[in-house]
Amino acid sequence: MSRTILRMSNISKSFNGVQVLHNVNFELRSGEVHALMGGNGAGKSTLMKILTGVYQMDAGSIEIGGKAAHIQNTNDAKAHGVSMIFQEFSLIPTMTIAENIFLNSEPKTKLGLIDDAACVRRAKELLAELNVDLDPDTPVEQLGVGYWQLTEIAKALSYDTSILIMDEPTSSLTKNETEFLFELIAKLKQRGIAIIYISHRMDEIFRICDRITVMRDGRHSLTDDCANLTMDTVIEHIVGSQVGEAFEWVERPYDTSGEPVLKVDRLTSGTKVRNVSFEVRRGEILGIAGLMGSGRTELARALFGIDPIDSGEVWIRGEKRKIRNPSDAMAVGVALVPEDRRTQGLVLDHSVKDNILVTILSKLRKGVFVDDREGNRRAEQFVRKLSIKTDNIFKKSGLLSGGNQQKIVIAKWLAIEPDILILDEPTIGVDIGAKTEIVKIIREFADSGKAVIVISSELVELLAVSDRLLVMHQGEVRKQLRRQQIRNEEELQHAIQNI
Ligand SMILES: Nc1ncnc2c1ncn2[C@@H]1O[C@H](COP(=O)(O)OP(=O)(O)OP(=O)(O)O)[C@@H](O)[C@H]1O
Ligand SMILES: [Mg+2]
Repeated sequence: MSRTILRMSNISKSFNGVQVLHNVNFELRSGEVHALMGGNGAGKSTLMKILTGVYQMDAGSIEIGGKAAHIQNTNDAKAHGVSMIFQEFSLIPTMTIAENIFLNSEPKTKLGLIDDAACVRRAKELLAELNVDLDPDTPVEQLGVGYWQLTEIAKALSYDTSILIMDEPTSSLTKNETEFLFELIAKLKQRGIAIIYISHRMDEIFRICDRITVMRDGRHSLTDDCANLTMDTVIEHIVGSQVGEAFEWVERPYDTSGEPVLKVDRLTSGTKVRNVSFEVRRGEILGIAGLMGSGRTELARALFGIDPIDSGEVWIRGEKRKIRNPSDAMAVGVALVPEDRRTQGLVLDHSVKDNILVTILSKLRKGVFVDDREGNRRAEQFVRKLSIKTDNIFKKSGLLSGGNQQKIVIAKWLAIEPDILILDEPTIGVDIGAKTEIVKIIREFADSGKAVIVISSELVELLAVSDRLLVMHQGEVRKQLRRQQIRNEEELQHAIQNI
């Protein structure tokens, strides 16, 4: 059995009098991949920020390599061999791989100048250790996201890291990039580096992790070997109760006569959306399946007026419409919950309430004043409905956990009650409990006579919500299927792969 490299004991932490960690224990062995799981707001990121010196604990102790470690800031953490790869990358796109790896810790010449040759040499060595054939002189902006992550990992290794933390590392990666990351993780393991892996994706966890720790409501709930656990047990610990028929498809009646709410005719936008035609009716949920890069996100962006439409027609409620920008789209009742919600959908400095209500402020206005009572009521309703974990609706959105920030953006677009709602990867980063809530909310929304388009890479979820499915490949619609035609996940996977 490998030795314990890290022991966090009885860690407690409050923010403004609200306790978010209660006597949490966490232990890590060298060379293991240890999953840290738990619902949105359970305290995973906060615990890791204490380990990396971003936050200070109120009580508790940390031991690294058998000795007490006093981590007051991020440099202390580095000195103890702790590195974290943040979901929002910290690289500078215009700089090269080598420059990024040694940013702020450049090898110096005798004269105190930055030793460029040494940077490139060391970077080459680090990349070779990871078995990657990349020129360290390449600017990172020329690389795919997977290689950005690789650069971050190489950077971490340059500090002599023994504990590496990854917070939801795959949420912006394609399938191939994810495989590449998993290979890297295996190599890091062989070198004896211990990895703390935070993710809401159960299948990944069971594939690459040795042990799992689950937190719930700021408390430790479970630690065990993966081999001793089933997905159901883990989910039970995450949500705190038995799980029901979460992702069951229910056939929903909707009116197929009359005019479609949205009719897209031979739409082309850039090189990623080509000649796309389809219709969506009132009350219908249309799922869009496809591999990463198949043009799903670009189709959504074109319909919402972010990317220009080069040719083709968009008909809304029987009328031909020009959508040149998002205001045009919103004016005709189209809304988009974007894929990259943290950067595109949210003002982190603004309160939960202001973010939720921003799209409907004009409706709440009474003369020059905004109807504050009604505003509060609406905001609180959404917080409840989507179980957004926040002390109150006046809290700054940036202080909420990652998954709860995602939910605010969904609330914001539901609030305007659009006729046509497009959701791009609605459940990325949200926990298993919230996923089922979101599926429920999408159904309710469609039941009220709205048209919904859902883009998702999670097939189980796509099969649970969709009445009909489009399969896209290289910018084109290759298949249109009724939900009844697909029996299970494998069949849909097959339809996506064997275009
Ligand atoms: N700087 C802060 N000020 C106030 N509250 C905070 C701060 N940072 C985190 N919190 C609160 O602490 C709780 C735990 O948040 P944390 O980010 O650790 O959750 P998480 O487990 O990482 O969730 P997710 O899966 O959504 O990322 C949340 O309720 C969050 O709002
Ligand atoms: Mg988090």
